[in-house]
Amino acid sequence: MVYEAVIFDLDGVLCHTDKYHYMAWKEIAGELGISFDRKINDRMRGVSRMESLEILLENFKGNLSWQQKECYAQKKNRIYRCLLKNISEKDLEPEVKQTLDAIKASGIKTAIGSSSRNTKFILEQLGLSGFFDAVADGTDITRSKPDPEVFIKAAEFLGVEPKSCLVVEDAVAGLTAAAAAGMDCAAMGNLKDSAKADHYLDRFSDLLHIL
Ligand code: G6P
Ligand code: MG
Repeated sequence: MVYEAVIFDLDGVLCHTDKYHYMAWKEIAGELGISFDRKINDRMRGVSRMESLEILLENFKGNLSWQQKECYAQKKNRIYRCLLKNISEKDLEPEVKQTLDAIKASGIKTAIGSSSRNTKFILEQLGLSGFFDAVADGTDITRSKPDPEVFIKAAEFLGVEPKSCLVVEDAVAGLTAAAAAGMDCAAMGNLKDSAKADHYLDRFSDLLHIL
């Protein structure tokens, strides 16, 4: 398969924000008296902030109004944004940057396809603002992964047919979204051992063997 573009998920693929999501949700869980662990945090990969809150609330005994949920989601985001200030260009692994540079130099288009509404802030922190040919994120969509909307948007922004795009993902929701968008998917992280993908990346630079 000849791919004209690669669409990268952000959290868990280009950088590791999971620990900050975990810390922020842990604080909200503590406030609500809910137990929360890494396993629950893993289920939040790729899904929207509000859907993540709903996952957290599965262990909550009471009932929250829509406004209260909105408040908790906003509070989680304030904590998370503070933590994101710790991220810098040093958090972009050299192998990741070298691979991205090599893909770009080969003429293949690059995009971000992330459910996160903090995508542009994270890219800025990583020194990647303006690097990608297109960025489709949580601010561009009405339905988050596993819905294909964010990947379809990314392909549209790039002007490339979905079938000519390769998605790089670390989450089941993202793999499902890529398939629904009619795109091939390269799995990395835990996803590589747990799901059926078109390609498996042991290291990020393995992408160069696929393209
Ligand atoms: C990514 C992460 C999810 C997160 C979602 C929304 O997809 O993998 O864990 O819930 O983004 O993030 P946000 O930054 O908008 O709260
Ligand atoms: Mg991810």
